Amino acid sequence: MMKNFLEVAKDFAYTECARVGPPPRQHIDLPMGAALKLAKELESKGQLVNTNIVRAGICLMDCMIGEALEQGRLEDHVKMSLEKANELMAQSDVGEEAKENIRHCILEHHGVKKFYSIESEICCNADCYKFASVEGFIYAFRNLSDIPEKKLAGLLREKLEEKWNALTFDFCKDELRPQYEIIKKILRYLDNSLVVEK
Ligand SMILES: [Fe+2]
Repeated sequence: MMKNFLEVAKDFAYTECARVGPPPRQHIDLPMGAALKLAKELESKGQLVNTNIVRAGICLMDCMIGEALEQGRLEDHVKMSLEKANELMAQSDVGEEAKENIRHCILEHHGVKKFYSIESEICCNADCYKFASVEGFIYAFRNLSDIPEKKLAGLLREKLEEKWNALTFDFCKDELRPQYEIIKKILRYLDNSLVVEK
């Protein structure tokens, strides 16, 4: 039954990408891959992880960000995504415990002092790959090409630091540290653009 809901959540997230994007589709696929890799690593150390909850959380945590941006309410995207998730879950047969866990995956995906669950902590760490990995950085440049380079560089620098500081798992910090350093260097070079006139 959770499988059906996963299809619903994924369908909704992808449909929104196609309708309003951002987020680009890769901003679902990339954290999904990162989250599943991290879950595997934690499981290999004896930690129990419900990967269905993680998958649902990744699909839904930013599912209304495109709509929020369109309405000029980016800061409300977590609230809006939660409302949409509640609406989708109300029509499903997902159990109450799983629903509460998925809600927290959405609510806490930008980081929190104490995570509700391991699944929620995984979603938060995976979200960081959107801006703190080389792959995420390249997707951002490709997908936000209507923003002038310098402005985009500033935006990405902000996101890079925010996401680097939100990481809690050493496994992710170790994986992302060299990428974080490279992105920082690239942004520094962009600051010293050689283009004299535009
Ligand atoms: Fe978000």
